[in-house]
Amino acid sequence: KRVAVLISGRGSNMTALIEAAKAADYPAEIVAVIANKVDAGGLETAKAHGIAAHAIAHRDYPTKQAHEAAVSDALQAAGAEIVCLAGYMRLMSAEFVQAWEGRMINIHPSLLPLFKGLHTHEQALEAGVRVHGCTVHFVTAGMDEGPIIAQTAVPVLNGDTSDSLALRVLSVEHETYARALAQVASGKAVMQAGRTVFSD
Ligand code: GRF
Repeated sequence: KRVAVLISGRGSNMTALIEAAKAADYPAEIVAVIANKVDAGGLETAKAHGIAAHAIAHRDYPTKQAHEAAVSDALQAAGAEIVCLAGYMRLMSAEFVQAWEGRMINIHPSLLPLFKGLHTHEQALEAGVRVHGCTVHFVTAGMDEGPIIAQTAVPVLNGDTSDSLALRVLSVEHETYARALAQVASGKAVMQAGRTVFSD
């Protein structure tokens, strides 16, 4: 399956997907990277891997709709069949999400449905949870609430700060995302009637 990755920053999850896709038996090929900011570090990484990298800056467009139309054009030009949001900090419109329903996934740095939104590690520390982690889910119109595909838990250790906790979560995000994308690309995880249906 042809996959496009959308980023806003350094793109460490994008890099993990690029590395995973190098395996001959990996069921996905990363064909394009799109950033909504011209200074997204991940653009350089993608180019270094010989992957088409486009900066489509949202501030260059008068409306969300116009920006998403430009993104859609780039996705179509790349022949993308699956979209991976990886550190992409823009909320997609309901129309865009609908058009990609079941073919657009996202990684969120918490064990959803806990700690939606931003600053998830601060939320976890504030809540005093002893287990935290990351979630890959299908993207639906609501923020951080689509059907879950994969999760990995990490312990919260005494003395953890949001930085130390973020690092521990990030280290399992990469393997979690690569595994989840393979499940979706191979059809082993599909979104049906608002739920993830798994087949082995
Ligand atoms: C990660 O914590 C990811 O879960 C969130 O954005 C952060 C940056 O990810 N979506 P990346 O290094 O840009 O992939």
